[in-house]
Amino acid sequence: MKLNKILKKYENPGMHNQLGVIWKKAKGAFIYDNRNKKYLDFTSTIFVANIGHGNKKLIKKISEVLDIPLLHTYNYQHKYRVEYIKKLIKFTNYNFDKVYLLSGGSETTEAALKLMRIFGKENKRKPIIISLKGNWHGRTMGSEHMAGNESGKDWIGYRDKYIYHLDFPYSENLKKNRLSGKQFFLDSLKKIKHLNFKKDISGLILEAFQGWGAIMYPKDYVKEVSKFCKKNNILFTIDEMQSGFGRTGKKFCYEHYEVNPDIICCGKGMGSGFPISGLLAKNKAFKNILPGSMSSTHSGNPMACAAGIATIDEINRLKLVKKSFQNGKYFHELLNKLMEEYPEFIKEINGKGLIAAIIFYKNKKIDGVKLANYMSEHLLKQNLIVVKTGRESIKLGPPLIITRSQIKNGVNQIRKSLDISIKKNKF
Ligand SMILES: Cc1ncc(COP(=O)(O)O)c(C=O)c1O
Repeated sequence: MKLNKILKKYENPGMHNQLGVIWKKAKGAFIYDNRNKKYLDFTSTIFVANIGHGNKKLIKKISEVLDIPLLHTYNYQHKYRVEYIKKLIKFTNYNFDKVYLLSGGSETTEAALKLMRIFGKENKRKPIIISLKGNWHGRTMGSEHMAGNESGKDWIGYRDKYIYHLDFPYSENLKKNRLSGKQFFLDSLKKIKHLNFKKDISGLILEAFQGWGAIMYPKDYVKEVSKFCKKNNILFTIDEMQSGFGRTGKKFCYEHYEVNPDIICCGKGMGSGFPISGLLAKNKAFKNILPGSMSSTHSGNPMACAAGIATIDEINRLKLVKKSFQNGKYFHELLNKLMEEYPEFIKEINGKGLIAAIIFYKNKKIDGVKLANYMSEHLLKQNLIVVKTGRESIKLGPPLIITRSQIKNGVNQIRKSLDISIKKNKF
């Protein structure tokens, strides 16, 4: 039986079906399939391989732990855990005091929800959490409750009445209503004016940018959110799952907004492929946490910590945050030029650093979802892997080690594919 048929027969059908390529190996910015066809990876496998695929220093560090051998310690101490925690806190410029290591991203947003509610309870507040429509935080119950996608939580059978969703500040709405980001947030608050902000709200969570379209917030919006949280003593969380570890040209995306959240949720690029995630927080978020009340079997796993150590070391050694910033500018210049060439098809180019999304129009003349889906498949045949979002967007996020000529080749390939798709009426 063919591999894809076996998976279809035996595997959870709820897995996200990405493009049909069978991976054999991955190195640097390239992926090789089972026929040795080479693809340029414009996804970093959904923003994980920030330091490049198959990084030698990462493999060496994990091998060091394998050779000891020290595969698992549960919650016992070991030197890799100590070294990693120290390095991670230093990587944030000591902006956070505490780390909670986990394995998957949704676990960290669940943990943030728990911390925000415990904080609220200790401060005699209602367990109200504010989130935004259209944002996304994972696939577990708490994270889907916080996410702003209604259909995603139908399976739960009820709505958490203590989670409120405000409107997202899409630039289109701001322009149409001539509103600044700050005013948009202040207007959003009017919709929850029945709440006593100081007594009712425990926490507020933002996705660092809205995922499907890499949509950043206006800076003054996030600054106003942060001001609101500080003024009302509300825990402010930013979900940095896709955006952390250099992706946007800063170590973390919150730096672009010049705010200082109480909690950030990280994963993906944190372990360069090793399943590690983590929540970083200020002391006040962990103030009332009892020993044993927040732990996990694989928290601080030695191999995961080794992967985390090597990831930070490589980001520093290869100056990947700076590269992401500089090459990201070049990347966005090329993409914006593409938008100018196809103004009737491309509505927006979003993102920062080495994350970008091409947003197509979705109107009477153009079916942007059909175009994006067709192009994602077509690009794969042309040896370029992009993120198929299932919406009117194509998302791009090459490894941060990518060179300018590789960026140029990839964008040229996108141009060709768009041209062919239009000529074939695939929109
Ligand atoms: C913003 C955001 N939050 C949470 C998650 C959930 O992470 P995981 O798939 O590791 O559970 C993701 C995953 O894509 C994400 O992008």
